[in-house]
Amino acid sequence: MNPTAPSPHFVRIAFAHLPHLLAIEEQSYPDPWTPGMFNQEVVNPASHFHVAMLETEVIGYGGFWLMAGEAHITKLTVASPYRRQGFGTNIMLHLLREAARANAMVMRLEVRESNAAARTLYERLGFSVIGVRRGYYSRCPENAVVMEKWLLEKGHHGEEGEETSG
Ligand SMILES: CC(C)(COP(=O)(O)OP(=O)(O)OC[C@H]1O[C@@H](n2cnc3c(N)ncnc32)[C@H](O)[C@@H]1OP(=O)(O)O)[C@@H](O)C(=O)NCCC(=O)NCCS
Repeated sequence: MNPTAPSPHFVRIAFAHLPHLLAIEEQSYPDPWTPGMFNQEVVNPASHFHVAMLETEVIGYGGFWLMAGEAHITKLTVASPYRRQGFGTNIMLHLLREAARANAMVMRLEVRESNAAARTLYERLGFSVIGVRRGYYSRCPENAVVMEKWLLEKGHHGEEGEETSG
């Protein structure tokens, strides 16, 4: 973490961002998202997908879908030259604020079992492991660890934290 790193600003995903996102995506995942998947984030009203910028440069992105009180993380990515400077944490904190503003009760996500960097980041932000989905990732097959963080006290509004692991 670099305490002197500048803070990014956030904008909602737009079609103009797609070439930048696709380039970062290719560097970052064995199973990168396709243009069609990013297009969906632009048009889907349940999607809260934001791009992190330093001045005019795209340095990362992340988003969630809001469904029945659950903010389900669909992406968290930082461009490789910008990693390990706190930007991934900045993006997740931004998404947590957005989710709370949209009245989500809980945030959940899946992460590759071997992805120690992301798992540590999530744990440091208060996420806990609630299960494992066996063989969840088909390209470069691997289990997913399911994690969650409650934004409201569990049981508030009558909802109990149902098990989502498969
Ligand atoms: C995971 C990812 C988003 C982290 O972004 P980042 O900007 O590097 O994260 P931060 O700088 O905020 O790191 C916060 C903490 O997470 C942990 N962490 C991050 N990267 C790590 C690494 N490569 N190895 C070990 N721990 C790591 C550290 O505890 C770090 O704090 P520290 O730097 O003070 O030790 C980034 O590595 C990435 O985009 N990876 C590829 C895509 C991906 O795997 N996304 C997650 C999908 S679920």
